[in-house]
Amino acid sequence: MPVITCIEDLKRIYRRRVPKMFYDYAETGSWTEQTFRDNTADFAQIRLRQRIAVDMTGRSTASRMIGQDVAMPVALAPVGLTGMQSADGEIKAARAAEKFGVPFTLSTMSICSIEDVAAHASKPFWFQIYTLNDDDFNKRIIERARVAGCSALVITVDLQILGQRHKDIKNGMSAPPKFTLPVLLDLATKWGWGIEMLGTKRRFFGNIVGHADGVSDPSSLSAWTAEKFDHALNWDKIRKLMDMWGGKVILKGVLDPEDAEKAAGLGADAIVVSNHGGRQLDGAISSIRMLPEIAAAVGNKTEVWMDGGIRSGQDVLKALALGAKGVLIGRAFVYGLGAMGEAGVTRALEVIHKELDISMALCGETRVANVGRQNVLVPKGFLDAYS
Ligand SMILES: Cc1cc2nc3c(=O)[nH]c(=O)nc-3n(C[C@H](O)[C@H](O)[C@H](O)COP(=O)(O)O)c2cc1C
Repeated sequence: MPVITCIEDLKRIYRRRVPKMFYDYAETGSWTEQTFRDNTADFAQIRLRQRIAVDMTGRSTASRMIGQDVAMPVALAPVGLTGMQSADGEIKAARAAEKFGVPFTLSTMSICSIEDVAAHASKPFWFQIYTLNDDDFNKRIIERARVAGCSALVITVDLQILGQRHKDIKNGMSAPPKFTLPVLLDLATKWGWGIEMLGTKRRFFGNIVGHADGVSDPSSLSAWTAEKFDHALNWDKIRKLMDMWGGKVILKGVLDPEDAEKAAGLGADAIVVSNHGGRQLDGAISSIRMLPEIAAAVGNKTEVWMDGGIRSGQDVLKALALGAKGVLIGRAFVYGLGAMGEAGVTRALEVIHKELDISMALCGETRVANVGRQNVLVPKGFLDAYS
């Protein structure tokens, strides 16, 4: 097993192992990728405040997210096509997460179905839905999530229309891949991935194909998604989806304090300050820069979490310091999964946990709940650079 000391190590192996089409699918933002870059670059501008002679024994990163005990306040974000990064990828990621003691979120656009993941997991996971204009499908998929024992519904509210990602168009991205000459040449160097993929039947969108009206095979799927994302979404419809579920709800994709107020007003158990990992509105502000204002606006009404750009436990610490009660990681776990399957997701979580624990100690804190603004140094003008 290679020596993995940081998330970047996993990313290097991931890049070697997984077809370019799926690496590019994850490692991209929309249009110029400015927001995608800002998400990580803005974390790098924040400094940690070193403290000394503070008793660091008996530390713990344990916390709670929407009332659920977690080993650290880090959940796996919903990531579409995870089962193309590694065969049965959603099952592998869910198992790694539950063993580590952090929540796993299954995307609607997953390869393994809700039922598949539930059959292979021993703890409840969260299910993410998109806001679709098909009430029948919404009802059925929410019911499937309920039957599968999902413990929270993540409603993604920042994708009424798909942001354009140039690389996906250029690569002819599809699941499973179409065997064009460039794809075959690439696959010739990714045989480990290919052999694993031949060994599984899960190669299509498991939650949709065979479940949505008119989608019986993968080729009818792209037409279905283009038609079904609800361009007419409004707050009433979000409330309807929340009512349909009736359990814990996380609204993901909030990037404006006014929207955060509305989301909190609807009674969301948590909101995720997010720009979809820079994959939707290019030119939008980074999540970490927007977090403090949103936390100040609604942090006493709902749990405020964030995602976008987290590649280390130090980033988690910075997000907690600037007002998040928890975070989601997307690419950081995908790198691990693509590199080494379930063991790679576990390794990604171990790396992040260790970095969080040691950094927290060296900042003079022994509990994540006590991490706050006192632990970071933010450049002058960082938080009000844009108005
Ligand atoms: C490859 C990929 C696929 C994604 N698919 C979904 C999805 O199906 N549903 C969703 O709500 N968010 C999706 N997201 C966004 C993530 O949930 C999360 O917001 C984002 O990855 C956080 O940024 P990070 O990757 O820098 O951690 C996706 C992100 C990536 C990278």
